[in-house]
Amino acid sequence: MIEGGKRLEGKIRVSGAKNAAIAIIPAVLLVEGVCRIENIPRIKDVDAIISILTYLGAKVEFTAPDVLEIDATGVNTYKADCELARSMRASYYLLGALLGRFGNAQVSMPGGCDFGSRPIDLHIKGFEALGATVTVDRDIVTAHSKHLFADSIYLDFPSVGATINIMLAATRVPGTTVIENAAKEPHVVDLANFLNQMGAQIKGAGTDVIRIVGVDKLRGGTYSIIPDQIEAGTYMIAAAAAGGDVTVENLIPKHMESLSAKLEEAGVFIEEMDDSIRVRSDGKLKKINVKTMPYPGFPTDLQPQILALLTRAQGTSMVMETVWESRFQHTDELRRFGADIVIADERAIIHGVEKLKGASVKATDLRAGAGMIIAGLMAEGFTRVENVCHIDRGYENLVEKLKNIGAAISRINE
Ligand code: EPZ
Repeated sequence: MIEGGKRLEGKIRVSGAKNAAIAIIPAVLLVEGVCRIENIPRIKDVDAIISILTYLGAKVEFTAPDVLEIDATGVNTYKADCELARSMRASYYLLGALLGRFGNAQVSMPGGCDFGSRPIDLHIKGFEALGATVTVDRDIVTAHSKHLFADSIYLDFPSVGATINIMLAATRVPGTTVIENAAKEPHVVDLANFLNQMGAQIKGAGTDVIRIVGVDKLRGGTYSIIPDQIEAGTYMIAAAAAGGDVTVENLIPKHMESLSAKLEEAGVFIEEMDDSIRVRSDGKLKKINVKTMPYPGFPTDLQPQILALLTRAQGTSMVMETVWESRFQHTDELRRFGADIVIADERAIIHGVEKLKGASVKATDLRAGAGMIIAGLMAEGFTRVENVCHIDRGYENLVEKLKNIGAAISRINE
């Protein structure tokens, strides 16, 4: 429940990156020995991937609130065809990790998705290039191989998931595997850094071409996960939309460049420090056009949040979604606040309105939920957001963090 119209002021701290954590935790399957992973975000998706590793036989323990120690040395099965894996979209990383460890993998995958189909053909193309035979039988994906070998793989689209999965599968394969047109997202680089810290030889992560020289084995070690780019961006947009003076701490300003540029264009004052960004806004915003793109472009995972902000910007804004084919369901919910949005194919045309009115809305997925919270912070009166389980998947202590900077927000149990 949110009472909108409050000015936001103060400091808000960003947690570890969800999309790095849920790739790095299964990557431990490739390591002999104990991995100590710091800056783990305490969110539902992390709980889910930890449960799957435990189910597979790994020893997993939190030694501090954000520090996880995992020893997967004793895991002796390549089968993760369980209900737990089916409940989590990123369980596909188990495919690459188990294939890389055992040469075989069998994983249950979730079906359809909150924002359209999520194919894994590029992941499969990568596994096949490395010598695996892949079959998909309803919701179970199986990859078998006698032995894997290195190869060059060109991705038709710089898919984050396919890039990460191929890296996982290839890290211990003899020879040099090359991924061309690789994804460059910060969490791709973070996974490569983690694997290298444990003894892998991966070069080029963060560029279009990643080269993986296979090593015999990886050993345990300590690694700290990067701050969450999307959580940071969500709080920057919240401050810009509601108005106020907020410093978002523990972020990497370089990761925020596309968002900072767009917020400045909308009339928001942005000040970059070493590991924080100060956002000042009087809540009066100018129209802008935004096009989502793979990194370093504007992230699709901040599209619902920036779209919420633009509902009150002066003039007509346009948001173009080029990464996911149907990621505008949240606009139906935004209309409940009085927003004026027209969808034409991959474009949303937003005619800015003077004010939003509090509404009863649903979080249709994780980032759509963040967009609803931002609309609620801007709106007059009370907003009730349902299905917050989606938000819990990816935001650590969102309610407490926003309360600390002056938002009138609370969690109600019914
Ligand atoms: C990751 O999903 C993120 N998830 C998503 O964030 C994010 O929206 C997305 O990357 C894009 O940045 C995780 O990291 C766990 P993709 P992923 O493969 O890897 C097409 C969030 O809110 N495609 O880069 O699944 C696909 O249909 C989540 O945190 C194929 O066609 O995304 C889409 O149009 C939601 N074939 C595009 O590529 C494939 O085999 C991008 O997908 C794979 C993808």
